Amino acid sequence: MTWLKLVEGYMPMQMISELAICILFFAAINFSLKKAGIGIPKFWAGVGVWIFILMYLKYRIYPPIPFSVRAIYGTVSACGIFMWVSGSQPEWEDFKRPILNVMDGKTGFHKAIRVVALVLIPLALGGYAYQSFLPSFEEPIELRTVHPAPPATTKVHGKTFVLQTAENPYRVNPEGEYDQKYTDAHIVSQDMGRLMKDFASNEDNPWDPNAEGYIKYVREGGEIFFQNCHFCHGDNLNGRGLWAYAFNPIPANFTDAGTIAQLQETFVFWRVSQGGIGLPPEGFPWASVMPPWKEHLTTDEIWKVVMFEYWHTGYYPRTWE
Ligand code: HEC
Repeated sequence: MTWLKLVEGYMPMQMISELAICILFFAAINFSLKKAGIGIPKFWAGVGVWIFILMYLKYRIYPPIPFSVRAIYGTVSACGIFMWVSGSQPEWEDFKRPILNVMDGKTGFHKAIRVVALVLIPLALGGYAYQSFLPSFEEPIELRTVHPAPPATTKVHGKTFVLQTAENPYRVNPEGEYDQKYTDAHIVSQDMGRLMKDFASNEDNPWDPNAEGYIKYVREGGEIFFQNCHFCHGDNLNGRGLWAYAFNPIPANFTDAGTIAQLQETFVFWRVSQGGIGLPPEGFPWASVMPPWKEHLTTDEIWKVVMFEYWHTGYYPRTWE
């Protein structure tokens, strides 16, 4: 429900008032139906309210409540509903009537329901329990695609980027035009001690606070990287950050030729902005903790940090063949 947002910090109160309003609304409907002489039988009213509460908890509340907690809430609300339907003797009789009718099985219809309830349901449950206790010798399959096919477009901060045609606005030559050749030539080289390179020309030195253009954006991307990404992806960009081993899969190693080196820059932009939860189904089951950075960074910051990752590892983004 996008038109009625749950407000962070007020969710519990909002939830209780919404439920209360709905229940009052049901009570009003029930009351006017009863006035019109077509009251809903107590049994179905109770069951209906209970199902409504379960559905509300499952589909309305965000972030999703785990099943175990919903089971507790469901049990508590069932107790509440029992108290309601057994408030007075006539009401309780009214509630029990359909159950007793089925038990007595006086009509063919009730008999049929009784057969289903007493024979088929236990059989189905027994079969289910039997199946789930059968030992299995197969390893759980975990098929996943490390680099799933990207979508054609990705939406970040309300703007749609077409992956085939989008360009990193910071990958520019001194004239300010998109220029992959120029920036490739100013990337840090892949040899030993490359980061201690004597940057003879300041044009290539990201440590120079007065750097301009491409190399200045690399510097800014580096700041973003060391404020946000190095905990996981490591200060050498090799996926060995302080937190890395708390996670499975471990964070991507950008120095490995199998990650950003073989990806288009817009693919990386998509992956960084949407994170693990934005992976398409082929990427699952995959408990990636990679955060969806569009929630934390601006579009410009994402482009800059992506560019920094290429600069630092000395790889060029793959181009569309
Ligand atoms: C909480 C840990 C964590 C943080 C922080 C984090 N990442 Fe990740 N990242 C991961 C994990 C785990 C993976 C591997 C699984 C995946 O691809 O989703 C990953 C994957 C990636 C990939 C995909 C590489 C590929 O080969 O497909 C990119 C790109 C990336 N991260 C960039 C970043 C950037 C940029 C930042 C900072 C803005 C960042 N990550 C911060 C955990 C993290």
